[in-house]
Amino acid sequence: MFTETNPGRALAARFVAGDNLVEAVGVARRLNEQGYLVSLDLLGEEVGDEQSAGHAVDEYLECLDQIESEGLDANISIKPTQLGLAIDEELANQALERLGKRASEIGTTVTIDMEDSRYTEATVRMFERGQAGTGNFGIAIQAYMKRTATDLERLGGLGGHVRLCKGAYVEPSDVAITTKAGVDGAFAVYLTDLMMRSDVTPAIATHDEELVALALVLAEDRDEPFEFQMLYGVRGDLQRRILDAGHRLRIYLPFGSQWYPYLTRRVAERPANVWFFAKALFGGR
Ligand code: FDA
Repeated sequence: MFTETNPGRALAARFVAGDNLVEAVGVARRLNEQGYLVSLDLLGEEVGDEQSAGHAVDEYLECLDQIESEGLDANISIKPTQLGLAIDEELANQALERLGKRASEIGTTVTIDMEDSRYTEATVRMFERGQAGTGNFGIAIQAYMKRTATDLERLGGLGGHVRLCKGAYVEPSDVAITTKAGVDGAFAVYLTDLMMRSDVTPAIATHDEELVALALVLAEDRDEPFEFQMLYGVRGDLQRRILDAGHRLRIYLPFGSQWYPYLTRRVAERPANVWFFAKALFGGR
């Protein structure tokens, strides 16, 4: 685990499973024992050279080996720019293909995280290609994006899982809804649509109590599989309640040394996290 007294790292310890795969596997095993599914996320994004993209693929392959050898109930989440999308789409696609193939061999899936709007279109294309290949992919779709209704229609018939989240990046108003009420309303509409569909498996990624309550109502009329997904370190109480109610809940479990951008998004979502940071800075945990 993070042992340094640096307050950024102390905050990271709340949201990140550890610096390396061994630590992450330990946390994943414990979460599995408690009944949670896991999605392992190697931190890193916006890589600027082919070598770093290749390194990320190697680390993910090792991660898949560990999922297999440890018998973990886990899949992996990847960021397209970690596989080189910002350099070359074909490079990222080939990397994704390798991960999809290995994941398929061990009977698991790969979820493609959605990054900022510069990458949305290419990310949807990557998902389409992955599904046409090994067919064991999922994609995160952001409720705040104005193109999302069209994307959800486009994904029809491709199978796989669709992780519906609100969206974590700062976007201009021409591409995204920018009010909280607007985003929450859009999430409710897309959630309702997804829970009535059988061509994709919905993954409901929110800690918003009202939206979780809506999902639970919609779940009563759904016979097909779906799952909730939440972030490691966020609303453990709600996670437990959902699990105790008999639903599938997957914990998104980041690990690795590149935690700074991830942490920045978690603080932006909830400025109160800054107090946690301050406490660590002034001699707290
Ligand atoms: P909202 O922000 O309204 O929060 C609801 C409640 O949850 C808060 O009142 C608080 O109690 C708690 N909470 C939320 N965030 C917290 C935090 N950081 N710290 C402490 N408490 C917090 N985004 C994206 O753009 N691309 C992606 O690929 C993904 N992937 C993804 C996977 C999974 C499993 C989850 C749960 C989320 C994502 N996200 C994401 C992030 C998502 O878009 C969104 O930014 C966060 O989930 C916060 O939004 P909520 O839906 O939780 O609602």
